[in-house]
Order: sequence, then C-alpha cells, then structure tokens
Amino acid sequence: MRREPYDEAYKAEIVRRVLAGETAEAISRQPGSPRGATIREWVVKAKHKEALKATVRQHVEPRPVVLAPTIEAHRPRRVLVIPDMHHPFCHPDALEFLKAVRDAYKCDSVVCLGDEVDWHALSRYDHDPDGLSPGGELEAALVSIAPFYTAFPDVLVCTSNHTVRGHRKAYSAGIPAAFLKHISMVLHAPDGWEWRDEHRIDGVSYIHGDAGRSGQYAHIHYMKQAKRSVVIGHIHAFAGVAFEGQHFGMNTGCLIDSEAYAFAYGRKNLLPVSLGCGVVIEGREAHFIPMHLDDNKRWTGKL
Ligand SMILES: [Fe+2]
Ligand SMILES: [Fe+2]
Repeated sequence: MRREPYDEAYKAEIVRRVLAGETAEAISRQPGSPRGATIREWVVKAKHKEALKATVRQHVEPRPVVLAPTIEAHRPRRVLVIPDMHHPFCHPDALEFLKAVRDAYKCDSVVCLGDEVDWHALSRYDHDPDGLSPGGELEAALVSIAPFYTAFPDVLVCTSNHTVRGHRKAYSAGIPAAFLKHISMVLHAPDGWEWRDEHRIDGVSYIHGDAGRSGQYAHIHYMKQAKRSVVIGHIHAFAGVAFEGQHFGMNTGCLIDSEAYAFAYGRKNLLPVSLGCGVVIEGREAHFIPMHLDDNKRWTGKL
C-alpha cells in the first residue's frame, strides 16, 4: 500500500488522469490510491494554480503593440442563450440538451444569463443543515460545471444574484475587494468566460433579470423599460417570447434539477419550473426551446 504523503509528481500524474477523463472514484479504487475526495482536492488546487498563473501572465507579461485597430466586419450572430443552471444542482441532461440546440440552430456565440452556480450554503435564508458545506458545494459545483467549460469555452456571462452570494457575504462582513478573488478564479473558468452586468449583441440586451421586475411578464416589462430587445433568466417558473413591433422580450426559463434539496422551497410553494434555453438569430428572431422530460424527469432527447 502506498503511504502518504504523496509526492508532487504522483499528484500531477493523478490530476492529469482526471483531466483526461478518468473519475476520481475510479482511480481511488485502485490499490494504494488516495481517497476520491483527496483526488478532487488535488484537481481543484491544480486548476486554481493554473488560473492564478494565467491571471499573473495577463497582468505582467508585455503585450504586442497594436499599431492600428483591427476592423472586424459586422457579422450578425446566432446566439445560444443558457439560463440559470445553478451548479451543482443543474439538470443532469442540461449539457446534452444545450449541445443539441447549439448544433441544431448552428449557434456561433453563447451567452449565459447567470446563476450558473447556486451557493445554497451561502444563502442569507435558511439552508439545508444536511446539505453540503459552502466548501463542499463549491467543490461539487466545480466538478459539475467543468464539462460545460469544455463544450462552451467562450461564454459571455451575466452577473447574477446567486453567483455573487460569496462576495456579498464578504461585503457585508466589511472585507475590502482587494482581499477577494474574481468570480472567474473562484470558478476556475476558462479565459473565454467573461462576466458583465449586461452583454449587448446585435442590439439585443442580455441581463440576468434580477433588477426588480418579476413574474410571468417580467421579460415584457424589461423590454418596454429598455426600449430594445431584452433576454432574461432568473425567473425559473416561466418562459417565453413576446414581440412589440421590432423588439422582443424573452425569458429563457432555467436548467435546474428541481428535485435537488436546494429547490425544496420551490416544491413546497408548488412553483412551476420551465426548463429550456434560448436562441437569438441575428438580433431579430428569438426562440424559447423547451427541454421536454419523460416520466423519469430525464430529457426525451427530442427538440
Ligand atoms: Fe436562478
Ligand atoms: Fe437569479
């Protein structure tokens, strides 16, 4: 039997195997291997180290001098819109569903409307005492979201109420921003994931939708308020598209696992859950694509 401490070369080899697709559990079953939780911890630390290195490179290394701005021809986009996933409480078929929609609609850009993670354990409301700890939930979320990074390496993400929960707690506790990590580092996101309050593509505004409007018609209210086309998530219960002249408002629903303990409040209050995602074509056409489930609450595989 192998004895701890494991040397760095051994750890690096195990991390390489996990990143290549083996599961921590499968490796841990081999004689002399560490526990699955230990392996996952090594993977998280290795990713964190890489993210730190990338950030340092970004700020310290010299950039090439740009002599003239690059002029890109305006190319209208076909946007896949990913609503609230709430990792690690994301629907188990969300990734396959999103890939199928992207391919079917030939999407060339991706927007995530926020609430990509849940942070149930960091909620200011009561949270399940039998649920994961904040650290455990972060670890589970990193494992759960990692395949989405592979499938969608470039994503414009909207800032949102769930994702900021950790930073909000720090703010309430009086911790200055300089002590905190950017959310991209917390989530070990690839360089292509970029967070902003609002993204604008082909004149369409993409926001999370937690700025005061709510209910079944929130997307219409946001559209009227902005006087342009607006796409929102945040409101899990409803989804749909409404046009007013040339403008549209779209609510893209969510992609949560409604059976997860984090959504017990929704089940108790009999809130409906509208699963699906959005597609926006060249800023002028908007579609809500529902994710239909079978009796076992799994995606039927049909669009
Ligand atoms: Fe949400
Ligand atoms: Fe939200």
